[in-house]
Amino acid sequence: MMRRLFIALFLMMPLAALAAGGESVPFHHETNLGNQASLQRGAKMFMNYCSGCHSLQYMRYQRIADDLDIPEEVMEKNLMMTRGKIHDTIQGTMDAESAAEWFGKAPPDLSLTARERGADWIYSFLLSFYRDDSRPSGVNNVVMSNTAMPAVLAPLQGYQALKHEEGEGGEGESHGGDHGAPEFELVQEGQLDPAEYKAAVGDLTNFLVYVGEPAKLVRYSLGFKVIVFLLLFTALAYMLKKEFWRDVH
Ligand code: HEC
Repeated sequence: MMRRLFIALFLMMPLAALAAGGESVPFHHETNLGNQASLQRGAKMFMNYCSGCHSLQYMRYQRIADDLDIPEEVMEKNLMMTRGKIHDTIQGTMDAESAAEWFGKAPPDLSLTARERGADWIYSFLLSFYRDDSRPSGVNNVVMSNTAMPAVLAPLQGYQALKHEEGEGGEGESHGGDHGAPEFELVQEGQLDPAEYKAAVGDLTNFLVYVGEPAKLVRYSLGFKVIVFLLLFTALAYMLKKEFWRDVH
């Protein structure tokens, strides 16, 4: 009886998550924290396109520089768009009140967003802005409908129109890839083609996952060292064993 209840509850968890989120998460992102070049590109992108509004209150410039092998001078000269010194945490350029006034809502801190919402959510959110003239910003978003965030990556992505929401696409075959995803049509090109834009947003997502749990990077490299050690140790133990038993046989 109890067990069935647990199983039922367990099965309902994804539903509960959906209900809580309300919106769909159409695209999947394969997080790769082992790709340092990607993390560096993501950091650069964050500083250029996001730090104007969003802070990373649990992250310091210095830590990013150390973790991602970015020389301090490069960090200070090229990546620090906001006020502050290399030892400071990353504050948005805009103060919260004026941002709230401009957008109707203060841009939230993004330190823990990857942990709260997941990489797929962030990735999908950044891919799902579409033109909507009824909105003050001129855009809407499939993942967070009526979002207060403007399409800040439009110079890169261009603008897309929403052809239909997911589920409406019943007529005919699916187009492969992300099943049941909403369909967008690029109506104005940006600096990047769609594949390049997806890659860039993937870098940015990787970076935000790293920011959410910087200790993961340490764990990854430690895990690698531990495995190398165990392999060496096994070889050594084997050689020792042979040595010990040589005279017995
Ligand atoms: C011009 C200001 C502005 C810029 C620049 C900006 N955002 Fe936002 N962003 C917002 C606002 C305002 C919200 C709140 C949206 C809402 O709740 O409706 C938001 C919300 C978000 C959220 C949802 C957070 C949550 O948990 O609710 C994410 C993720 C996000 N932004 C990512 C980014 C990324 C990545 C960039 C850089 C490419 C970026 N934003 C640049 C204003 C901005």
